[in-house]
Amino acid sequence: MSVLKCRDLRKSYGDLQVLRGIDFEIEKGETKVIIGPSGSGKSTFLRLMGLLEPPTGGKIFFEGRDVYTSGLDLNIIRAKIGFVFQEPSLFRHLTALDNVKIGLKCVLKVNNDEATERAMEALKAVRMEEWANYYPAQLSGGQQQRVGIARALAMDPDVILFDEPTASLDIELTWEVIDVMRDLAKRGITMLVVTHEIAFAKEVADEISFMDGGKILESGPPDQLLRSPKTPRARRFLTRLLGGI
Ligand SMILES: Nc1ncnc2c1ncn2[C@@H]1O[C@H](COP(=O)(O)OP(=O)(O)O)[C@@H](O)[C@H]1O
Ligand SMILES: [Mg+2]
Repeated sequence: MSVLKCRDLRKSYGDLQVLRGIDFEIEKGETKVIIGPSGSGKSTFLRLMGLLEPPTGGKIFFEGRDVYTSGLDLNIIRAKIGFVFQEPSLFRHLTALDNVKIGLKCVLKVNNDEATERAMEALKAVRMEEWANYYPAQLSGGQQQRVGIARALAMDPDVILFDEPTASLDIELTWEVIDVMRDLAKRGITMLVVTHEIAFAKEVADEISFMDGGKILESGPPDQLLRSPKTPRARRFLTRLLGGI
């Protein structure tokens, strides 16, 4: 059964139709990647799938249940969906460890000792355990982003949504974040990732979807989608992306 699924998902802001009917699903253990030009609706799609905003049409299912009509407690489901944004937005006055612990303590009501243990485990998974007692200002952008990933991971979510997690990083720092994400994908963490890091997508994605104009124009295994995209728009986008023009 899929962890997250949507059918004919739509979102408008006033007259602006941002999502125009998206069908998508991700199963446990899968890594799926979304690519597409700026403004195509990728972030909006993730916000809706993460239940941060309601759709204006269509349905979202979490583990088979329609989240907006089956009387589920949205906050309980939200706690099972991790989010990693472009900017890690850590609390400046808290150490890396406390940034990771805060959700465990405040949302999941885990006691302090267990929160420390789980947070250290998550920091280890992103290779940041040695930096546990440092403050965000003492860390590089890539290290901060890895703490952001640990914060999501520590909650033991059923799926983690990543919105261009390396887009604001320099190339060298991008790699340390991508390496960590590759580890997670290989460990079987369920991940839905908006990224233009094609090497990552090629290596770990079960499927890549190309989004444009609020629709998924095509989806396929990395080899097929990257090498022989069917739609002219995907072809043009990939030529530009891979050609670096
Ligand atoms: N809260 C909002 N209110 C109005 N328009 C929005 C809002 N969020 C996104 N949009 C518009 O939706 C379109 C898609 O945005 P976004 O989902 O951020 O695309 P992407 O992440 O692919 O760059 C853009 O035209 C953007 O201006
Ligand atoms: Mg975006």
